[in-house]
Amino acid sequence: MRTRHFPEGFLWGCATAAHQVEGGNHNCDWWEWEQRGGIRTGDSADPACDHYNRFREDFRLLQQLHNNAHRLSIEWSRVEPAEGEFDQAQVEHYRDVLTELRQRGMVAMVTLHHFTSPLWFTHRGGWTAAGSPEAWLSFVRHVAQELGELVGMWCTLNEPSIYAYQGWITGDFPPGRRGDVAGMYRVLANMHDAHEKAYRELKRITPQVPVGLTHNKWLLFPAKPWNPVDRVLAAVSQSGLDRWPAGSPRMRRVVEATSDYVGLNHYSGSLVSVTRHSQPGWLPQSDFGWAIQPEWMRHCLEELAELGKPVYVTESGIATRDDRRRSQFLKDVVGQVWQAIEHGVDVRGYLHWTSMDNFEWAQGYSMQFGLIGVDLETQERTVKPSGELFGQIAEANAVPVD
Ligand code: BGC
Repeated sequence: MRTRHFPEGFLWGCATAAHQVEGGNHNCDWWEWEQRGGIRTGDSADPACDHYNRFREDFRLLQQLHNNAHRLSIEWSRVEPAEGEFDQAQVEHYRDVLTELRQRGMVAMVTLHHFTSPLWFTHRGGWTAAGSPEAWLSFVRHVAQELGELVGMWCTLNEPSIYAYQGWITGDFPPGRRGDVAGMYRVLANMHDAHEKAYRELKRITPQVPVGLTHNKWLLFPAKPWNPVDRVLAAVSQSGLDRWPAGSPRMRRVVEATSDYVGLNHYSGSLVSVTRHSQPGWLPQSDFGWAIQPEWMRHCLEELAELGKPVYVTESGIATRDDRRRSQFLKDVVGQVWQAIEHGVDVRGYLHWTSMDNFEWAQGYSMQFGLIGVDLETQERTVKPSGELFGQIAEANAVPVD
């Protein structure tokens, strides 16, 4: 079988977020949102995958699948349940988690905000409020001082543009605002500020640890390419979504000055016209209804390469109950990453979304992105064939050519 090899030291792993896997996370805005009926399926994020108690078993499985890296988030609402009050027992929990990863030879990429915020923070305006960057920063500082020596890479914020869009424009995420453009831009401005400040603080406390963030690159195309209105709309919407990291010269400078790497989360794209956003009907779709086009991965990587920073694929995955599709997707998408590297893009790692089927935010458990299945009744884990395939790719540091 012919294979395509990756550079030595390439990181292979999975990406997760605390609220989606841990269970028992009752002090954050997503829990409140769930109590108010914000989850379409009526599902609950407790116990999710009970990863809070089963992280050792979960990391053992990932080690068996030759993962040499793992992306996880540290839950702010656990570590700082009230403003300025840090819960040492929770800090120790995450020390155990990070130590376990280290002992299993997995580089820990730690996200410091992945969509959830503590209730005390949310109730005084969340990321729209003045002073929000400083409030988050004291959590960042505490985590870095306590746990920094166990961290391989910092990821300050997960997908600011998606977070702000879903929470303030579509209303699918808490606080459930719709069409609040001013609110969305306040959130983005505060998050930019927060990232810049966190970068400096993290570099001061843990100078050896690379710091970056993840950008969700959702591609937008004109629905009718011959129609100038659609073309302008698609271009304007894309640069709005891409404000972070490269949509404006100011933001570009922020990334140049305050990121050691760029993290790419890429899933899909849509067609834009005056009346609606739609999916390209000629492409296969995932269970989420998202168009699947592996070649877009290479396109995104080549675009981000222009920022002149190393790039990590910090999320890529497909929601499907047909695991053969996931295996095919994996081979195709990883093949595209290899192509990008062959064409000079400095890609250093691929973190698949996600290890286990988990709590997919507003969609509950209806969307399955995992390489490992989880029986929600018994919490039994079953590695899927796609998980075995990922293990073979990671072990060989190479992707098979079909
Ligand atoms: C988020 C994940 C989410 C995934 C699939 C990304 O935008 O970072 O938390 O589960 O997309 O929807």
